[in-house]
Amino acid sequence: MSDTTTATAGTSGQPTAAASPFDRTGIEPIIAVANRAPSIHNTQPWSWQLRPDRLSLRADRDRQLGVADPDGHSLLISCGAALALTELGLRTLGWDVSVERLPDPADPDLLAEFRLATRRPATARELELFAAAQRRQSDRRPFTARQVEPELVELLRGVAAGTGVYPDFPMRTEQRVDLAVAVSWADRTERNDPDYLAEMNRWLREENVHADGVPAGAIPNVPPGQPRHTEVPLRDFEIGVSGRLLIERDVDEHPLIAVLLTDSDTPLEQLRAGEAMMRLMLEAELLGLGTCPLSQAVDLVAFRNRVQTLMGWQALPQMMLRIGYPAPDAAQPARTPRRPVADVLDVLAG
Ligand SMILES: Cc1cc2nc3c(=O)[nH]c(=O)nc-3n(C[C@H](O)[C@H](O)[C@H](O)COP(=O)(O)O)c2cc1C
Repeated sequence: MSDTTTATAGTSGQPTAAASPFDRTGIEPIIAVANRAPSIHNTQPWSWQLRPDRLSLRADRDRQLGVADPDGHSLLISCGAALALTELGLRTLGWDVSVERLPDPADPDLLAEFRLATRRPATARELELFAAAQRRQSDRRPFTARQVEPELVELLRGVAAGTGVYPDFPMRTEQRVDLAVAVSWADRTERNDPDYLAEMNRWLREENVHADGVPAGAIPNVPPGQPRHTEVPLRDFEIGVSGRLLIERDVDEHPLIAVLLTDSDTPLEQLRAGEAMMRLMLEAELLGLGTCPLSQAVDLVAFRNRVQTLMGWQALPQMMLRIGYPAPDAAQPARTPRRPVADVLDVLAG
């Protein structure tokens, strides 16, 4: 099945799929969209199991990055995003859904179980968000000079906040300087590690026909001698392949930066931070804003602790994103492929 399958919920909010989404036909379109969640290096470190009474989301540790993600932090952020889309998808089929996170302490890779509660029509907003989930993609192009308006920043803060996740949008000059220093330090530390470079290379793809990894068509082309001017350095994917995405030169970029913080560094908080990231990305998509994770400074626990101290935050940064207005006439990034649904979904008898 293709990863571009559209939602089956009709405009009335009533499902047009099978009467119960808890069979293969009913669930596949939902998984196809949840499978479009963002993940570090497009590793897609997840799988779903469907049983007659529940849908489970599991971490796929075989897809965890050993060097850039030794403690599985980015894996859980990625899976949190997939969790948020799974819950949203089930709601668009006209159900209230109960979600139990990390239900079995003896099985920490069982990340969530979803059960259908009561029937009720999907809301217009749920349907809009679900459509946004199918469209969105990470935008690594330079954003325009237009600043994200304060009222939109507050909207984004509102959707991302809650359940132990605190969004912050550093804007004061001294905060921005500290953040830029922290990100470039983490970026340099990683780039000086040959194992990090080798691992990244394994996930870079010249063509976008592969089912995972980051394709060159989604990576901006930055020729040697013409560095990209951006306040906070982006993760450099042009180590292994040449980016094929043509971007405007000589843009001095000052994107909005969102930071998602939690009280500590537990798996539940990382999962929740991933859910918050997904909510923020979908809202941004509806507002016409581009987003892209910017995660070098939170990849490793030592980085997260260092950034927390440097920034004077009470809470720990889990995730960072660039946000801004895309240039309307700029070249479009290639759409990053996903694995087929059949590879990530198991339908079990009981
Ligand atoms: C935890 C996490 C960390 C990520 N870090 C970065 C990053 O530092 N730089 C970047 O350009 N993209 C980053 N991404 C974006 C992924 O590369 C992207 O989600 C994946 O390639 C799928 O592409 P899509 O988001 O366009 O669908 C990250 C995504 C996640 C979930």
